[in-house]
Amino acid sequence: MSLQGSKTKLMYEKAEEFIPYGVNSNFRYWGEEDTLVIAGGEGAYIWDADEKKYIDYRLAFGPIILGHGYQPVVRSVQEAIQEGTLFAWTTPAEIELAERITKMCRVDKVRLTNTGTEACMHALRIARAHTGREKFIKFEGQYHGMNDYFLFSTASSNSKSLGSRRSPIPSVVSSGIPKGISEYVIVLPFNDAERLEAIVKARWGEIAAIIVEPLMGNSAGIMPQPGYLESIRKLCSEYGIVMIMDEVKTGFRIANGGAQEYFGIEADLVTYAKALGNGFPIAAIAGKEDVMMTIHPGQVAHGGTYTGNVVGTAAALATLEILEKQPIIASIFKSGKKLMDGIDEILTEAGISHHMTGLPSIFGFTLGNDKKPMDFRDYCDSDDVLYEKLVFELIHRGVMPDGDGREPWFLCYAHDEKVVEETLNIFNDAVKLIKG
Ligand SMILES: Cc1ncc(COP(=O)(O)O)c(C=O)c1O
Repeated sequence: MSLQGSKTKLMYEKAEEFIPYGVNSNFRYWGEEDTLVIAGGEGAYIWDADEKKYIDYRLAFGPIILGHGYQPVVRSVQEAIQEGTLFAWTTPAEIELAERITKMCRVDKVRLTNTGTEACMHALRIARAHTGREKFIKFEGQYHGMNDYFLFSTASSNSKSLGSRRSPIPSVVSSGIPKGISEYVIVLPFNDAERLEAIVKARWGEIAAIIVEPLMGNSAGIMPQPGYLESIRKLCSEYGIVMIMDEVKTGFRIANGGAQEYFGIEADLVTYAKALGNGFPIAAIAGKEDVMMTIHPGQVAHGGTYTGNVVGTAAALATLEILEKQPIIASIFKSGKKLMDGIDEILTEAGISHHMTGLPSIFGFTLGNDKKPMDFRDYCDSDDVLYEKLVFELIHRGVMPDGDGREPWFLCYAHDEKVVEETLNIFNDAVKLIKG
């Protein structure tokens, strides 16, 4: 049964007339019958063009940390833009935001950008300029945006294209990327400290950076093994490699200071986006003084017409002020834990083999794995057909996680106990149905 009601269907058909596949991001395309047109949102809820309401666990792929249409943030933006939106000069708000980020996130310096893609792209250039080396290591199943260099062995890859664990192949995930780019990319499975050490010891002279999502925010939220991030940190320090922590999904979501605070690891460069602006477009590259100061007018490029624009900057300032003044993340963790525990219990009672992954504000679960998944290859062994079947039952009943188990469930401040209880009741019904 299609997810589209009659009005949604009509609007989607119109969208297809003018927009390729009717979406402004391929990740929003769920096929002809299930791609929705969303009319609005408030708190933990969104509704489509037919006014069908959903409890939203996609949260725009993660940015919404306080809730949809969160009024204090909306009002701050409304007030700020009365006096202009963009000036090609530094504004007081940019200075205040950079200072706030340095205080919250164990970083020395900050440059603003607009999207996670830009932040990661610039971080890689800074790392290359800093080290004078050109290659970099990324991990299978991790995503760092739409830049050509990163579109290898992401969560969109077919597991059969990855090569062996012993010598993985960078698997390109899009046409249109020049062949030569793959020569700069070294891919490895996540959570395998031994293999990482062997590669670094053999090839460190060519490696500018190791870029890592601290938990697998694009592969079901698989967690780092204890000591794994530390081993990346140690190797980077030992061999003069820039450690880039991609906190686009974890920043301002798993702790006020993101993964650096949660796991107690300091990277050389960190990228932020998503929760930084509660849904307004804003991102940042931040990091240690010496690495950030590699940026140099006329010598090492970083720029952008819209960087530090008033809309994103005002939204980020308001969001961070709220995160600092109120125990927002703690409250999300409380609700998220209740939801994770409830899902775990329902699946256990139904005799469905599963593993819970991630943290309460960004979690996932896999079905059918023998062992707890540690990397993308393990994830690919899970029963994604059963997962999708279960999730579509949820969606038809008004609970909306992503249809794809690689994308985690996201919670925001508006997912209170009542919302979680409603979700668990529906989850229970859906599980009964698929068991039946
Ligand atoms: C970890 C990570 N890095 C980078 C990006 C790219 O961010 P954006 O979509 O804002 O360009 C994403 C997007 O989902 C992401 O999950």
